[in-house]
Amino acid sequence: MLLNRATGELVITKSQLHDGQEVEIYFQSSANNNDRGNRERYFPVLPAELRINMAVHWLVRRPYQAIPSGTLRESLWLSVGLHIVQLQPAPSHDAQPSPPWLHRDGEAVTYIVLMNREGVTGGINYVTTPRWVNHQPEEVPPQDLLAQTTLTAPLDGLGVIDERVAHHVTSVRHAERGGSVPERVADGFFGVGSVPGVKRLSRESHCLI
Ligand SMILES: [Fe+2]
Repeated sequence: MLLNRATGELVITKSQLHDGQEVEIYFQSSANNNDRGNRERYFPVLPAELRINMAVHWLVRRPYQAIPSGTLRESLWLSVGLHIVQLQPAPSHDAQPSPPWLHRDGEAVTYIVLMNREGVTGGINYVTTPRWVNHQPEEVPPQDLLAQTTLTAPLDGLGVIDERVAHHVTSVRHAERGGSVPERVADGFFGVGSVPGVKRLSRESHCLI
């Protein structure tokens, strides 16, 4: 979709057809995703009722307003990719994000907003200095680990300026499987106030700038 930066108007762009299905095409270079990079990925289009849903539009406008001035190139229209990603583990296996390691997306800014979380453990978000792309959080020394947080309530969110950091979310495990995916340090966001450029948007939402 396109966002008019002067008026806040959102324009839904035409979707593509793939195997008879309406899809949004998402492309990342292998430099940004060496798990599924250099090929088109097909996400289902937003259901028609969500495309005109004011809450969804708010979900685009509100994070945009939190982007520090000077981050984005000057242009009237901003291209916005909005994807619903579901990590759905089974009792027999964890659900893994792609790529399953620290990475950059190749976008100017990425926001992750939780819609719902039920009956799972894991799904811990890490943000590190950019040199740790293609590594696991366990390998990152404390001084390079900028943020760690688990989004737990609907609309909890995290935003990153892509070129400044690497980010990752860990696998999600079905609660019936017992235990939890490995966690290196205690859950919770840290670094607010001590890391230049990290700020809270609200009690539960964080913006890494
Ligand atoms: Fe990402």
